[in-house]
This record gives sequence, C-alpha cells and structure tokens, in this order.
Amino acid sequence: MRILTVVGARPNFVKIAPLLDEMRRYPEMEAILVHTGQHYDDEMSKDFFRDLEIPTPYLNLGVGSGTAVAQTAEIMLRLEPVVEETQPDLVVVVGDVNSTLAAALTAAKMGLPLAHVEAGLRSFDRAMPEEVNRVLTDALADFLFVSEPSGVENLLSEGRPEERIYLVGNVMIDALDRFLPRAKRHPIPSELQARGKSHVDLTGPYGLVTLHRPSTVDNLATFRVIWAALEEIAKELPLIFPVHPRTQSRMVEGELSGSWQDASDGIRVVPPMSYLEFLRLQSEATLMITDSGGVQEETTALGIPCLTVRENTERPITLSEGTNLLVGLNGRRLVEEARKILRGEGKKGHVPELWDGHASARIVRTLSGAILPAKANPNYALGGLLPDRIAQSAALRFSGGDGREPQSCVLRNPADSSVIYPA
Ligand code: UD1
Repeated sequence: MRILTVVGARPNFVKIAPLLDEMRRYPEMEAILVHTGQHYDDEMSKDFFRDLEIPTPYLNLGVGSGTAVAQTAEIMLRLEPVVEETQPDLVVVVGDVNSTLAAALTAAKMGLPLAHVEAGLRSFDRAMPEEVNRVLTDALADFLFVSEPSGVENLLSEGRPEERIYLVGNVMIDALDRFLPRAKRHPIPSELQARGKSHVDLTGPYGLVTLHRPSTVDNLATFRVIWAALEEIAKELPLIFPVHPRTQSRMVEGELSGSWQDASDGIRVVPPMSYLEFLRLQSEATLMITDSGGVQEETTALGIPCLTVRENTERPITLSEGTNLLVGLNGRRLVEEARKILRGEGKKGHVPELWDGHASARIVRTLSGAILPAKANPNYALGGLLPDRIAQSAALRFSGGDGREPQSCVLRNPADSSVIYPA
C-alpha cells in the first residue's frame, strides 16, 4: 500500500512527523514524502525536518514564493508527473496551506483517494487564504480526520457524509507530546544568549510572540497598533518575538524594527526558531501572543495563557476548553488581557478529549483498515479503488481514551455489498 504524503509549509512539517512515524510501524505501508518547496529557508523548513526527525523527502518540487494562485497551480503542474511515476493508492494532506489544497486538487483530478488530516476547521472568514483551502480540500477528501468536535459539525452542515468523518484528535499534539521532553533540554537559541540592550533573562518571566497573518501584518496601520501594544506590555514583561519572513519585510517597511539587533526596549526580535527551540520557550512562557492557528492549540495543551490577535478562530475548542482568548486586532484589549495574566488572573483550561498523543495512531489504523482489505479484494485494481467505494463502506468511530482499537470498521464489496472487512 503506497501512500503519497505532501507537505509544503512549516505547520505541515509538525503534523506529518507523527503520521510518518506511525506509518513506519506498518510493514505493508510505503510512505512517499513530497515537499512542495512552499517554505524553503532553512529556518522555515530544513531545521524542522531535522528537529522532527522527518526523513529526506523523495522529491522537493521547489515551487518557492509566489501568489496563492501561482503557488497552487505550480504545485499541481509539478506534482502530476510524480503521481504518475509513483502510482500511490492514497494521497494524504495535512492542514490548510496552499500546498494542502494543491495536492488535494491533484489527487482528485487524477482519481485518487484523498485523506485530509485536520479537516472541518472553519473560521467562517473567506478573506483568510487558509479558509478557502480548508473548504475546498474537505469538499474533495474521502477520509476527513477531525481534531475537535466543531469540525464534525461543520462538515455535516456542509453535507459531507457522516461515514467519511473520523474524530481522531490532534496530530500536532502528538508531535508536542513526543518532542516536549527533548525540547525542555534543548539549548536556548544563540541570539537569545547574547547580552545587550534587549537581552531577555530566560530564567525570569517572559512572553512569547508570533505574528505573521496577512490580516495582522500586511496592513501597516493595524500592525502599528499591535506593535504599540507589544511595546506597552514589554514595559512589564520582556517579550521574545521570533519573526516570520513576511513579518520581517513588513517591519522593515514600517520602520518598526530594522534588524534583529535593532529591537525596541523589552522586545527581543529574533529570526524564526526551530521546532524544539520554539517549543521549549513556549512551554516556559508566562504568556503567548499569537495569530497562528497551531500555537493556539499548543498553548492549550501546555496550559499556557494565549492571547490571539484575531477576530475569529477556526479552533473554538481552544476558547471553550483551553487557555486561549481572542482579543481581536485591538491593542488596548491586548494590553488589558496581558496585564490580567500578569496579575495571575489568566484563563485556565484543560486539554480537550482525544488530544492525547494518539491521533496519528488512529488515523493510520483507519487507513490501513480501509485500504489494505480493499486491495486484497479480487475486484481491486489501482484506479478501481474509487474513493466512493472506500468511504461509503468504511465506518469507523473512536470513543476516546487510547482509542487504538476501532469500535467498528466495516468495508463492503462495492460489487455486491457483501462485507469484505472484517473478514
Ligand atoms: C503559510 C500558510 C499559513 C501558515 C504559514 C506558517 C498559506 C496560504 N499560508 O503562510 O497558513 O500559518 O505558512 O508559516 O499557505 N518566505 C520566505 N521564506 C520561506 C517561506 C516564505 O522568505 O521559507 C516568504 C515568502 O517569500 C513570502 C512570505 O514569506 O513573501 C509568505 O510566504 P507564504 O508561503 O506565501 O505564506 P506564509 O505567510 O508563510
């Protein structure tokens, strides 16, 4: 059984690592990893592969930067011959970046079954490039692996068939659980060790900041408001701000901070961090300020108070059960809520059900349970394994806890509806 996995951007790497790890436990599974090259700087890509122990990709498509349309189209063009050459039984995509949608469209156009990990999340904000990617990828996917109950509701309300939807938990938390002990021992990035005007004493309290969304940083007036709020907070709590390339460009344009060395008092601006460096700092932070999706989830799992500088979130469980709070693009609110956290009045939360480190085990088990028996069926032929036949016939649910054992899994022979799995 050959599975083509496609990744392109930083958050993809974190999600694919535990899945590839799990696939290695199944001798009959062959995972082929393709990197689209959407993220190409060492700090955004290679360092993540190293930290997360992801094998070298079979191929890097090298698409690089571009508009969303150019990026998506270019990935599709370059992926098509790879699919022809490798003849996978299934394509697996994760998350919501342009590479996710491009690979999903390629799989669908080439008649291959598609699994989407982190399906169903919705911000209901079509101005977000990721929202368009999510909606379209989910419309195409045959296996919809969901991380929180809101995702199941969203997919059902969009008319996706129930039997294609699997509530499995969160693969990003699988990676966190696995790598946290190592991250805790990881050396502090050299940029943070240098003494100077904006040195941050990491043995004392500090806040961690990440901002990179177009809606936060592309409009300079908005970004300036948020930056002023950060300067205000930094008077009471030193802040560490690893800066994404998009944000760095905007900072230079807006003359907020010209270079890594030239930071404001109390705000330590550093280049993007590797996974282990960032996880270590995140796990020991007093508070997190972010517009990232994944960081909202990681802080909920770690129990660190998180202020999300956005008007909405596609991850509502981090609000209802976790430590996350939406402050909008509102500088005054950001400062007020940060002060509350400093007074010890920050939001408390708990880790959502199924965010237990076993999501990838559930996903890979589901795929193996659905596809391997189908391949063993005499009616099977590549291309004959039509998505509808798999998904309409496989029913698999998890109840919580470890959940490694599926409660039920039935695969019917499409020809005569007889049960072919379990045998
Ligand atoms: C992408 C994802 C976003 C994710 C983020 C994580 C989409 C639509 N967005 O946004 O969901 O949260 O990754 O980082 O796919 N750049 C570099 N070096 C790199 C990568 C990018 O300099 O290694 C520059 C690009 O040239 C471009 C900017 O950063 O100017 C944005 O890159 P792009 O991949 O288009 O989107 P992200 O903002 O990174």
